[in-house]
Amino acid sequence: MKQLDLLYSGKAKSVYRTENPGELLIKFRDDITAFDGQKKDTLAEKGSLNAGVSTFFFGILEKNGIKTHLVRKIDDTSLIARNLNMIPLEVIVRNIAAGSLVKNYPVEKGTPLNPPVIVIDFKDDTHHDPMLNDDLIFALKLATPDELREMKRIALRVNDVLQEYLGRRGIDLVDFKLEFGKKDGVIYVGDEISMDSMRLWDKKTGESLDKDVYRTGQGDVITCYHRVAIRIIAEE
Ligand code: TYD
Repeated sequence: MKQLDLLYSGKAKSVYRTENPGELLIKFRDDITAFDGQKKDTLAEKGSLNAGVSTFFFGILEKNGIKTHLVRKIDDTSLIARNLNMIPLEVIVRNIAAGSLVKNYPVEKGTPLNPPVIVIDFKDDTHHDPMLNDDLIFALKLATPDELREMKRIALRVNDVLQEYLGRRGIDLVDFKLEFGKKDGVIYVGDEISMDSMRLWDKKTGESLDKDVYRTGQGDVITCYHRVAIRIIAEE
């Protein structure tokens, strides 16, 4: 598969065209950012760790009948994905209160949220990704009612599958973010599912096993990502 011109470069991934217009090459870079891009670093191996975990999670979802953009992984940091029309929403599922929920609402960190809470942000850097509600999503024509229902349904299915999988490995799935895209009227999970896009807490110690280690400067990010990747991917 030939890597052709760069189509898009985000904060941590670059997307290239390939010879096949239906497929893109997604490269996970070693860049890491937080706080709306105010904190930035480059950490060796981070791209390959997130590419590995993301591919692994997409594989689990596919096995559970959930459609994802993954076609195949081609090397340590790159995968081939379906070329989707991306929907500019960040669909966040929360099982335990943390992060912006705790910052913006009177709820204590660690409070279980049952049933899970879905929060949807508008992927729009110029407006700092404001939170949406269903009416705003329809008014701004970001998705139809059917599409929104389908994205929420898939997000909760992904939550069930990942929560169960991680739970068996002693990890609490606190929250995570999904992005979706469309192709031929079908909605697929796109983007990534990695330590950058989820909060994972060790069930026994409560220790963060995700990007919060970077956000708070609590420890060595790559050591943490490496350990959690092994815990996730290693055979049972
Ligand atoms: P959230 O607590 O809303 O934001 P932050 O972590 O920036 O305070 O995030 C909830 C989860 O969704 C968390 O695991 C990180 C992930 N997420 C992203 O990957 N990208 C984003 O742009 C946002 C807002 C969240």
